Amino acid sequence: MGVNTAKRCTVAVLAMLAGTGIWAGCSHRAAEVQSAQVTEAPLDPADAAIDPARWGKLYPIHYQQWKLTSEPTPAGLSKYKRGYDVGEERRDKLDEYPFLALLYNGWGFGAEYNEPRGHYYMVQDQLEVDPGRIKAGGACLTCKTPYAPKLAKEMGPAYFPTPYKDVLARLPKANQTLGVACIDCHDNKGMALRISRGFTLGKALREIGLDESKLSREQKRTFVCAQCHVTYMIPKDKEMHSTDVVFPWAGSREGHITIENIIKQIKSSPANLEWTQAVTGFKLGFVRHPEYEFYSNQSPHYLEGVTCADCHMPMMTSNNEELTDHRIMSPLKGSMSTCAACHSETPQQLRQKVIAIQDRFIDRYLKTGYAVATDAKLFEMANKARAAGKQLDNDLYAMAREHYEQAFYRLIFLGAENSTGFHNPAEATRVIEDASSHAAGADMHLRQLLAKAGERVPEKIDLELSKYTNNRGTKKLQFKREHEILPPTLVK
Ligand code: HEC
Ligand code: HEC
Ligand code: HEC
Ligand code: HEC
Repeated sequence: MGVNTAKRCTVAVLAMLAGTGIWAGCSHRAAEVQSAQVTEAPLDPADAAIDPARWGKLYPIHYQQWKLTSEPTPAGLSKYKRGYDVGEERRDKLDEYPFLALLYNGWGFGAEYNEPRGHYYMVQDQLEVDPGRIKAGGACLTCKTPYAPKLAKEMGPAYFPTPYKDVLARLPKANQTLGVACIDCHDNKGMALRISRGFTLGKALREIGLDESKLSREQKRTFVCAQCHVTYMIPKDKEMHSTDVVFPWAGSREGHITIENIIKQIKSSPANLEWTQAVTGFKLGFVRHPEYEFYSNQSPHYLEGVTCADCHMPMMTSNNEELTDHRIMSPLKGSMSTCAACHSETPQQLRQKVIAIQDRFIDRYLKTGYAVATDAKLFEMANKARAAGKQLDNDLYAMAREHYEQAFYRLIFLGAENSTGFHNPAEATRVIEDASSHAAGADMHLRQLLAKAGERVPEKIDLELSKYTNNRGTKKLQFKREHEILPPTLVK
C-alpha cells in the first residue's frame, strides 16, 4: 500500500536524537528548534493575550497563515468537504443528505446545518446560522469564543443558560466574533501547547484516566484539537434550560471511546435529551463532531502515533524558515507533504485513495440514512394509528424504539464526524453495519406492530422529503438539489 518504512525509520531516529523519546509523526525537528527560539507573547490578563493580532507582531507568519482560515479553500480537491471553496456556494448538510432534514425536523439542526468552513468564522457562523441553533445559550459559545474559559469562571453556572447574545455582549466589541485564537492552543509564556478549556476537556480527561497537567507534547498535538472537535451533551433542567457542557466519556478510556458508550451516557439521564424529534415525537440526545473520539478509537494512523496536527498542520517553509502551517484545513486541499513522510504515493494517488474510502462509506451511509428515516415515518404512522384509537402492542413498540434509537445515534455519530469515514475506515464500517441492522430491526417490529393493529403498510414508504427540506427555519431555506450527494456507485 505504499507506506514508506525506510523513511519513517530515519525520521524516528532523528526524533529520538532530538530528545522527544517517542516518534512523533515525521517532520518535527524543525518545530523543536523553532520552539526553542520563540519570544514571549503578550501577557495576560489583558485582552492583548486573546487578540491574535497582538501575537502576530511576534509571529507574523503564523498569524498570516492563521488568518488564511478566513479565505475560501482551493476547489476541486476534496470531494465531500466543500464548506467554503473558491467560487462555490457553501454547502448545507441538509441539502447534501436530505434524510437529515427529516430526522432533525423539530429543532435548529433541521433548519440549517452547514458544512464547516475556516476557524476564523466560528462565532460569525453562529451569528449567521438559523437562530434555532443557538437556543441553548452561552453553552453554545463553549467551543467557540476564546473567552469561554474566562466567561465560565466569571459567570459560574449562569454561563450555560444565559441567552447567547447576552453572553456575547459581555465581550469587548472588537473581539466578539474572534474565532479559534492563539491562546486556545498556546501558553502565552513560552508558547508551549496547552489545554485552555479545563472546565470541559480537563474534566473529561479525568474520566478516561488522563491528567491534564501530565500530557506529553505529542498528546497535546491532538488534545488541543479535542477541546472542540469532540461530541458533548448540554444537560437540561426541568424547564429545558442548559446546565452544563459534558463530554460523554465516563466509563471509557483513552483510545477506546466507543459509540456504544456514548449512547449509554446519553441514555443514562433524561437531562441529556435535548430536543424532540418532530416526526416521531421522541425526546432524543444529540451527537456533535466526534473527530477525536472516532479517530482515537484504534484507527491505523492513531496506532502509528500520528496526531491531528501532523495531518492538518504540516510543516511549511517561509523565508527559509521551517514552521508549523497554521492554515488549518482539509489535507486534501494542501500539498499533502506530511503524508509523504510515510506514504510513497503521489499526492494525487493518495487523494484518490482517501476518496475511495469515503465513497465506500458514503454508499453505506446513504442507504442507512434512508432506512432510519423510513423507521421514523413508520413511527409516525403508528402514532397516528394510536391517536385514531387503534390498539398498539406496547412490547413491539418498545423494541422498535430501542432499535431505532440505537440506529439513529450511530448514524448521526458518523454523519457529524467530519472526515466522511476517513479518520477510521474500519470503525466507520463497523458502526454503519450495526446502525443498518438496528434500522432493519426497527422496521421489522414496526411493520409487525402496524399489521397487528390492522394498518395497511405499503412496501415502500413515502418519506415526503420536500416537507422537511423546503421552507426550513426562519430563513425559509429551500432544498438545493444540486448539492445533494448521490450514491457514488451510481455516479460516474
Ligand atoms: C476552540 C475550538 C476549536 C479548536 C481548539 C480547534 N477547532 Fe477546528 N474547528 C472548530 C470549529 C467551530 C470549526 C467550524 C468553523 C465554522 O465552520 O465556522 C472548525 C473547523 C475545522 C476544520 C475545517 C476547516 C475548513 O476549511 O472547513 C478543520 C480541518 C479543523 N477545524 C481542524 C482542527 C485541528 C486539526 C485542530 C487542532 C490543531 C483544531 N481544529 C482546533 C473549532 C475548533
Ligand atoms: C488550534 C491550535 C492552534 C492555534 C489556534 C494556534 N496554534 Fe500555534 N501551534 C499549534 C501546534 C499544534 C503547533 C506545533 C507545536 C508543537 O509541536 O510543539 C504550533 C506551533 C506554534 C509555534 C512554534 C513554531 C512552529 O511553527 O512550530 C508558534 C510560534 C506558534 N504556533 C504561533 C501561533 C500563533 C501566533 C497563533 C495565533 C495567530 C497560533 N500559533 C495559533 C497549534 C495552534
Ligand atoms: C492521517 C491524517 C489525519 C489525521 C491524523 C487526522 N485527520 Fe482530519 N482529516 C484528514 C483527511 C484526509 C480528511 C478528509 C478531508 C476531505 O474530505 O476533504 C480529514 C477531515 C477532517 C475534518 C473536516 C475538514 C473539512 O474541510 O471540513 C476535520 C474537522 C478534521 N479532519 C479534524 C481532525 C482532528 C480533530 C483530528 C485529530 C483528532 C484529525 N482530523 C486527525 C486527515 C487526518
Ligand atoms: C506516520 C506515518 C503516516 C502518516 C504521516 C500518514 N500515514 Fe496514512 N497510513 C499509515 C499507515 C501505517 C497506514 C495503515 C497501513 C495498514 O494498516 O494497512 C496508513 C493508511 C492510509 C490509507 C489507507 C491505505 C490504503 O492503501 O488504502 C490512506 C488512504 C492513508 N493512509 C492516507 C494518508 C494521508 C492522506 C496522510 C496525510 C494527510 C497520511 N496517510 C499520513 C501511515 C501514515
